[in-house]
Amino acid sequence: MKLELQDIRLTFSNSRKGDFHLLQGVNLAVSEGEITAIVGGNGTGKTTLFNIISGFITDYQGKVLIDGKDIRPLPTYKRAQAGIGRLFQGTQLMGNLTLMENMKMASVDTMGEHPISPFIAWKSIRTHEYQKEQRAIDIINKLFGSDSKYLSMLDQKASALSYGEQRLIGIARLLMGESKILLLDEPTSGVNPVYIKTIADIIRKLVEEQHMTVLLIEHNMNFVKSLATNCAYLDNGKIMQYGQTEQVLNDEGVKNSYLGV
Ligand SMILES: Nc1ncnc2c1ncn2[C@@H]1O[C@H](COP(=O)(O)OP(=O)(O)OP(=O)(O)O)[C@@H](O)[C@H]1O
Ligand SMILES: [Mg+2]
Repeated sequence: MKLELQDIRLTFSNSRKGDFHLLQGVNLAVSEGEITAIVGGNGTGKTTLFNIISGFITDYQGKVLIDGKDIRPLPTYKRAQAGIGRLFQGTQLMGNLTLMENMKMASVDTMGEHPISPFIAWKSIRTHEYQKEQRAIDIINKLFGSDSKYLSMLDQKASALSYGEQRLIGIARLLMGESKILLLDEPTSGVNPVYIKTIADIIRKLVEEQHMTVLLIEHNMNFVKSLATNCAYLDNGKIMQYGQTEQVLNDEGVKNSYLGV
């Protein structure tokens, strides 16, 4: 699926200091099977863009298009059903739930939405639960191999995993929703080098095998270089540079104002 941002604008009205124009006309397109990184300083509005795409912020101007269709009318859960999956900045799994429960929680399904459906469809719900468990196991197997420790830890509390491991399972969990577009907000922050490589491998595999569309926010430039074909530099509310990753990261302006080299 193709993701497009057209002239996205967001202003905060502030009685003390007047209006603050965070996003001032952001344009960006990510085609199917492409990994694009958004880089830029702290507080420039990267996460805010993800909040707009996934429907948490609705009072923006401009358009978010999926395969050419404006998704403004869709609430957050409908956007997830439409194929937008998101890894949040800094968050972990639900520590009190088991790994399996965390995985199952992320699957988008409409079963049980109707108040009486549990009564008329209890058997199919049970089958459905079983299918979800199988799906979780398949995903873990596929991503980490059939001998991974996560398989044997599925019934353990998620809090038993380290932070980096929880990031990995967080990415695995995204696949439960049959996402086609992945929004990854700093997947490598706080993750050690070996896991960073695993995360890069997983994302690459997903794009190659399932033609996912990936929008990645990162401050780890080695990760960006190793993974993203295109890069967008956000500053002053706009995409100030866009192009092949190497080219953008070698731009003098980007080096001076963001990379500090
Ligand atoms: N009501 C408000 N008035 C003014 N500014 C606001 C208001 N609400 C949020 N902001 C600003 O909007 C910005 C949102 O930043 P956002 O989280 O999108 O940054 P980011 O690019 O993801 O940064 P980081 O790299 O640190 O994660 C912040 O600078 C915040 O101070
Ligand atoms: Mg952020």
